[in-house]
Amino acid sequence: MELSEKIYDYLENALDRDEGVVNEAARYSVLNNGHFWRPTTLIKSAEAYGVSLEDSLPYAVGLEFVHTASLILDDMPSMDDADIRRKKKTCHLVYGEDIAELTSHYLTSLADLIGNEGNVDDSKYRAIVQETKQTALNLIGGQEIDLKDVEINSICEIDRFYGMKTGSLFSAAAAIGGILGGASESDLNNLRRFGMNLGIAYQYGDDLYDELAPAAFLGKPTGKDKNKNTPVKVLGVQGARVVRAGFKTAASTNLAMLEKEAYGLECLIEDVLATHKF
Ligand code: IPE
Ligand code: IPE
Ligand code: MG
Ligand code: MG
Ligand code: MG
Repeated sequence: MELSEKIYDYLENALDRDEGVVNEAARYSVLNNGHFWRPTTLIKSAEAYGVSLEDSLPYAVGLEFVHTASLILDDMPSMDDADIRRKKKTCHLVYGEDIAELTSHYLTSLADLIGNEGNVDDSKYRAIVQETKQTALNLIGGQEIDLKDVEINSICEIDRFYGMKTGSLFSAAAAIGGILGGASESDLNNLRRFGMNLGIAYQYGDDLYDELAPAAFLGKPTGKDKNKNTPVKVLGVQGARVVRAGFKTAASTNLAMLEKEAYGLECLIEDVLATHKF
C-alpha cells in the first residue's frame, strides 16, 4: 500500500467517528485529491529518527486537517473567492458559507483530538502542541498579510510573508517528526529551517502556477492573484524562479547539517517541488 493510501485511510477512519452535515462537508473537503505534502513531510522526518508510521500518523493526519481547514477559509468569498478546489466545487459552494465555516473549526478541533490520542509521553506532547499552535498563529498572520494586500517591497518581506502563510506548516511537519524521534535541539532547528525553506519554495511555485498555468491544471483555478501584490509581481517570473531555486538549495543544505541521514526528506524536496513545473 502506498504511503498516500495509508494517510487517506487514517483520515477516513478519523472522520468515521462522527456524522452530520459538517462531517459530510469535512469528508468532501479532506478525502479529495490532496497531495498530502505536509503529512508526508512529517512522516519522512519521523522515519529519519526511527519512529514507526503507526506512531507518526496521528500527528501527520492532524496537520492535513489543519491544512484543509485553512483551504476551506482561503476559498471563501471573503478571501480568494474560489470556485474549484481539488478538482471539485469548493466547500462553501456545495454546503453554504455557514457550514463551510463550521467545517473549518471542526477540522482543527479534530486535529487536536487525534493528536491527544497519539502514543507519546507528556513532554513530547507538550512540545508538539506548542509547535502546532505557533504554526496556526503564523498561518493566520500570513493570511492576514495576504488579505490586507500589504505592500511587499523586498525579498525579506516576501520571505516573512511566505514563511508565515505556507512555510510554517511545512516547518511544523518537519519539526514534529523530529520531536517524536527525540531529535536534538540543533536538529530540531535545522528541521524547522528545512520545512520553512521547502514551504517558501513551494509557495513560489504555487504563485508561478497562478500566473502561468493553463486554467485549472492542478484542479484549482488560476489567475486568482491577478489583483494581488504577489512576489511574482515584485520579482518577475524569471526572478521568482531564481529565488525559488535558492530556497530549494537551502532546504537541502539544512538536511545536510542534520546528525541523522534523512534520505527520505531529500527525495521529498524533488517530489514536492515537482508539483509546480513552471
Ligand atoms: C495549497 O496547498 C495551498 C498552498 C500553500 C499553495 P497544496 O498545493 O498542498 O494543496 P493540496 O493539499 O494538494 O490540495
Ligand atoms: C495559500 O495561498 C493558502 C493558505 C496558506 C491557506 P493560496 O491562496 O495561493 O493557495 P491556493 O492557490 O488557493 O491553493
Ligand atoms: Mg489565498
Ligand atoms: Mg487561494
Ligand atoms: Mg495560489
